[in-house]
Amino acid sequence: MIDLHSHILPGLDDGSSSLAESLEMARLAVADGTTHMACTPHIVPGMYENGSANIARAVKEFEQALRRAAIPLALYVGADVHIAPDLPEQLALGSVPTLNRSRYFLFEPPHHVLPPRLEDLALRLINAGFVPILTHPERLTWIKANYDIVERLNAIGCLVQLTADSIVGAFGRTALYYSEKLIDEGRVDIIASDTHGATRRRPGLSQAVAAAAKRCGEDEARNMVLKRPGEILANRPLEPVGKARSKKPSPGNAGRFAGLGRLLKGGTA
Ligand SMILES: [Fe+2]
Repeated sequence: MIDLHSHILPGLDDGSSSLAESLEMARLAVADGTTHMACTPHIVPGMYENGSANIARAVKEFEQALRRAAIPLALYVGADVHIAPDLPEQLALGSVPTLNRSRYFLFEPPHHVLPPRLEDLALRLINAGFVPILTHPERLTWIKANYDIVERLNAIGCLVQLTADSIVGAFGRTALYYSEKLIDEGRVDIIASDTHGATRRRPGLSQAVAAAAKRCGEDEARNMVLKRPGEILANRPLEPVGKARSKKPSPGNAGRFAGLGRLLKGGTA
């Protein structure tokens, strides 16, 4: 499996605090079936001042440590990129890294406040040739009152990344509810661990894949941790799975489509 979201590099953010912990995280990931992992420390201006250069350096050092410890985990450069007004320019300059130098990058909105003009920023990024991967929308506290924003971000071309712990219930009922809703609606492109440590928020995707498979089938659950992450790392074009579903019918057809939906569901709600 391929894990595209991890805070495994030591000392760069609130993830791993030491090389020993990073090695233990890598062992746990490999034991659970992860073979490839993107190292994606936070980039938050004024808080976690990481960038392409220091992340690439840390990945190289960690690769050497993995080799010495004989842990078979392939690493890729990436970042968990907090929103910023100049993000399109920073990505274009290369000072903020995408995933393995592809067009795809992890796009992290604030957890508790819906920023104004989030959709405008996403559109500017897409028009600049990048594909934002919206990280764990199911965990954002503003999703309850603003689910339509997630739908619209998906419709304009943002991919959706679910966090593994959310779909197994480790982040509580609300995150579980929205995980299941997003999967049931066919909006989830990838599942990633977003691991932060060897004891707290441990790595591993297999339990989440099993939980997702119960709702969307095994093939689609595997796509979320293998096929699509592989295409992202290879920079192949990828449409959000939820994009087609997000295309709104024209107003004239809306009533008819809603009726058809009810018929297909066999209910009247
Ligand atoms: Fe993260």
